[in-house]
Amino acid sequence: MYKPQFQAFALATLLATTGAHAADGSQLAAAQGIAYPAVIAHRGASFDAPESTTAAYLLARELGADYLEMDLQRTRDGALVVVHDDVLGRTSDVAERFPERKNSPVSAFTLAELKSLDAGSWFNKAYPERARNAFVGQRILTLDEVIDIAEGDPQRHPGLYIETKEPAQFPGIEKDLKQRLEARGWLDKPGKVVLQTFDRNSLQLLHEAMPKVPKILLLWVAKGSIEPASGQTFVESGERDKSAFYARQHPKDRAEFERWLDYAKQGGAIGTGPSAVRSNLGEQSYSDLIQPWMNQATHDRGLLVHVYTLDDAVDFNKAMAAGVDGIFTNRAGELMRFYGRTVQGSEATLLGKLGY
Ligand code: G3P
Ligand code: CA
Repeated sequence: MYKPQFQAFALATLLATTGAHAADGSQLAAAQGIAYPAVIAHRGASFDAPESTTAAYLLARELGADYLEMDLQRTRDGALVVVHDDVLGRTSDVAERFPERKNSPVSAFTLAELKSLDAGSWFNKAYPERARNAFVGQRILTLDEVIDIAEGDPQRHPGLYIETKEPAQFPGIEKDLKQRLEARGWLDKPGKVVLQTFDRNSLQLLHEAMPKVPKILLLWVAKGSIEPASGQTFVESGERDKSAFYARQHPKDRAEFERWLDYAKQGGAIGTGPSAVRSNLGEQSYSDLIQPWMNQATHDRGLLVHVYTLDDAVDFNKAMAAGVDGIFTNRAGELMRFYGRTVQGSEATLLGKLGY
C-alpha cells in the first residue's frame, strides 16, 4: 500500500538537502479542487473492458476512479466522439464494415457510421483471458454519453479528464468542447474537469476558451516535442522494439526539459503529464520523465505532475516515491487498492453487476 507519509518525508528530506523551495503537490491539487493523489482511469477501466466504451467507463466509475480519461475527436458531421487512435482498425470492425475507408481518419466518418461499428469484439480477440460475450457490440461513445456515465452515479460522480487528440486535424474543437461542457453544466464544477493536450497551440486555445478550467500539458520526448539527446526517430534508430527505443530516449539536457515546464506555465497549464517507462516495457511504456529532479522542477514552478500510463504496483510505488501527484492507469482498481482506497468488489464482480 502507498504510504503518503513516506512521500512527505522523502520530499522534506529532498528539500532539506537541496535547500530548494518546492510547492507540495497536495496543496497545489487542493487549490484546484483536483483529487490527490489522483486516480485517472485511462480510456476507462481499459485493462478489463474495451477501451473508451460504456463497459470501460462504467467499470471505472464503479471502481471509484477520480477521473474518466478520454481522447476527443470530431466526426465528419461535427459530433464530439471519444476515440484514441486517429484510425479505427485497432479497436473496431471498420475493415469489415467500411473496407474502402479502413485507413481513413475518424473525421472521415459520420456519427451514424461510427455508431454502426463494433468497438468491443477486438478486445475479446486481443485478450481472450479477459473476454466477455457482453463486450461484443460495444459502441464508440460521444462526449455526451461519457458525461451521462459520470453523472449516472451521483455519489461517485467521477470527473472528466479530456484530451484534445490530434487537435490540428480539428480546428475549433476547443470551442466545441467548451460549448458542450457549458451546456451540460460542467464548467461550474471546480476540479471536476481537467483538460489535457500534447499540443502547445491547443493548450493556448483551451486556455482562451476555458481560462478557469485546469489544464495539463502532456510531455513526450521526440523530435518536435521535448528534443531527445539521441536526435533520432524510432525509424532512424533501426530499433525493432518501440518500448526499448523509448526507454533509451531522454531530453537532450536539463534546460530542454525545463523549457517545456515553462511552456506549460506560459500556456496556462496547472500541471504536466509526463510519460514513464514501465518495468515490463511493452505497449504504453515510453520515456522516463518522472525522475525526482524533474518532478521537483515542476513543483518548483507551482505545477502538478500526473504521469501516464502505469498499471502495476511496482511502477505506482516508484512514481509516487519520485514525487508525482496522480497516475493515469488502465487498472483504476489496482491503483485504488494501492492507495488504500475502498473498492466495492473485484473487477469481475463489478462487471457482472453491471450486466457484463
Ligand atoms: O492522455 C495521457 C495519455 O493518455 C497520453 O497517451 O496516447 O494514451 O493518449 P495516450
Ligand atoms: Ca489520452
